[in-house]
Amino acid sequence: MQIAPSILTADFCELGKLMEELVSEGIDWIHLDVMDGNWVINKTITFGPSLVHSIRQKLGPEIFIDCHLMITNAEDTWEQYVDAGVNLVIFHIEAVSDAGTLIDNLHSRGCQAGIVLNPDTPASEVLPFLTKLDLVLVMSVVPGKGGQSFMPEMKSKIYDFRLAINNQIESGGKSTKLMIDGGIKHHNVALVKSWGIDVAVIGSGIINDNGTVADNLKEITSAM
Ligand code: DX5
Ligand code: ZN
Repeated sequence: MQIAPSILTADFCELGKLMEELVSEGIDWIHLDVMDGNWVINKTITFGPSLVHSIRQKLGPEIFIDCHLMITNAEDTWEQYVDAGVNLVIFHIEAVSDAGTLIDNLHSRGCQAGIVLNPDTPASEVLPFLTKLDLVLVMSVVPGKGGQSFMPEMKSKIYDFRLAINNQIESGGKSTKLMIDGGIKHHNVALVKSWGIDVAVIGSGIINDNGTVADNLKEITSAM
């Protein structure tokens, strides 16, 4: 299972240093949480395309960057994130009216496409798009902030997607990746790995736990 750090709870004045630390610890995937002050229930604003662009410049072309769009107008603004240099745009199924067209638009710009669903949204809302998707992200917290408690009841949804993706791959279809996001730390990382997750997003468990970023990452990887 791959680990994708989320920088949501970082000190934004120290982002460059954090990027260097993560890369020197072997991280090759960064997860960027974009919130527009409107879509998430707590109305948080994080950052937009210009910071995403700066992070791409800092990291260079080798590191994989996804952006998790928690915004109302992803169908109008998705291209700004492609232009900023992300490899994968992940949009909320609850926030768009025509997911199929958005997937096609992203692919036409050479960008990977992912769909994310909230804890109370059933897998059936996303499964019809699975054949075209590069990634499915299951939220294990209500989106809006870092440091929340993990929702273990997401297991059955994860199993539904794992089964559908395995069937798709066995019949020669796309190797859609399965990602989980929210509340993952060293004490539950082995559990989510056992569910068949490909990529786990970890924010506060890497950046704000007791140790340094390097210590926290070591604790997480040795617990897996
Ligand atoms: C929640 C974000 C997550 C979150 C992860 O809205 O999508 O990426 O910040 O942070 P932790 O690991 O602290 O839950
Ligand atoms: Zn996220």
